[in-house]
Amino acid sequence: MPRRPAAIQASISDQGIPGEYTQPPDVDRTELKRALSTAIDQIDRNLDEYYDRFPEPSSENLVYSPTDNTDGWTTSFWTGLCWLAYEVTGDARYRRAAETQLETFERRLESGEVKTHDLGFLYTLSAVAGHRLTGNDRYRSAAITAADYLTDRFWEAPGLIQAWGDHEASEDFWERGRMIVDSMMNLPLLFWASEATGDPTYASIAETHARTNGQHIIRPDGSTFHTFKCDVVTGAPIGGETAQGYEANSCWSRGQTWAIYGYALAGDYTDEDEYVEIAAKLANYYLSKLENDHVPRWDFDAPPDQDIRDSSAAAISVCGLHELARQLPFADDRTRCYRNAALSTLESLATDYSTKDTESTGLLTDGAYDPSDGDYDECCIWGDYFYVEGLVRATQQWTQYW
Ligand code: GLY
Repeated sequence: MPRRPAAIQASISDQGIPGEYTQPPDVDRTELKRALSTAIDQIDRNLDEYYDRFPEPSSENLVYSPTDNTDGWTTSFWTGLCWLAYEVTGDARYRRAAETQLETFERRLESGEVKTHDLGFLYTLSAVAGHRLTGNDRYRSAAITAADYLTDRFWEAPGLIQAWGDHEASEDFWERGRMIVDSMMNLPLLFWASEATGDPTYASIAETHARTNGQHIIRPDGSTFHTFKCDVVTGAPIGGETAQGYEANSCWSRGQTWAIYGYALAGDYTDEDEYVEIAAKLANYYLSKLENDHVPRWDFDAPPDQDIRDSSAAAISVCGLHELARQLPFADDRTRCYRNAALSTLESLATDYSTKDTESTGLLTDGAYDPSDGDYDECCIWGDYFYVEGLVRATQQWTQYW
């Protein structure tokens, strides 16, 4: 069970980063390698059970039920875990599993189950990663088809990709001007598609969405709304709301980490300092709100008696902070701070949030899919994925999937 010491009274450095991150943490890389090997062992134990089926988004009593790849946004995290296990071990069994799963992603495109902004999550970790690792053009083609469907959800006047609802259905008209903070992690599919095809349209839509998100979802203090609506006809801003956070004006910690990682990746694809600086502002807010052990409460503004953690947000933050550090110049003091913060968080997850020595089929305890719906204190499949991506980032060279 996680250790929960008294809150750290963090001093803030000149860069707006809590002072504790200016010093390198005492993290033993051998322990991180051991944690990676423990995680791969669990993926291995799961291989037969899930194979070309998929763990549900979150577990029950720390065990995932298997489901089919017909809907939802999370199936690709299992495929991503198989690709990571393949890269770390070189064992073809993981590659065969990922390739078998890819057939279900191809079928999903054919079935028309594509009216979702989550196509980026779904087809980056399956098809883009598959193409990067195997060179198979079928995966490239699937990823481009998914990117095409994603661009269909772009609305010109507000300059955003519609988050929820069927973009063609008149009954969902009022969803047309809605964006959500998670969408920042769906943009890499579009940036990749422009690189792969030479057609700048995908990246141009991604950049427009990133700018609109920056104008409306990010507040002046560097916190984020979960969701924000604009008028789809005039583009005028309407206001912020939440579905998974505590309240409209609060800061849902996982949303904050989707934005940190999403802007760092936008910086990687475009070489624009503007995106990297946005990611840094978001990161500073995030780090200033951590109370202890580097794993955030599910919402930074939830009442103190709701001490519900979200290990999945922490796992995303590890990858986002690591990527942000990669985008900043080596000599920038922030580079070292973000690396330190990523390592401290990873160490905390490996030490105090691991399911090792339990009957769990997941990797991290204390994931919080949706506390307002009673769904917390479980494993979340994306938290498991980002935990392993973070361990791989910290211990070896890695082929970027995003
Ligand atoms: N829908 C993405 C999330 O729950 O973070």
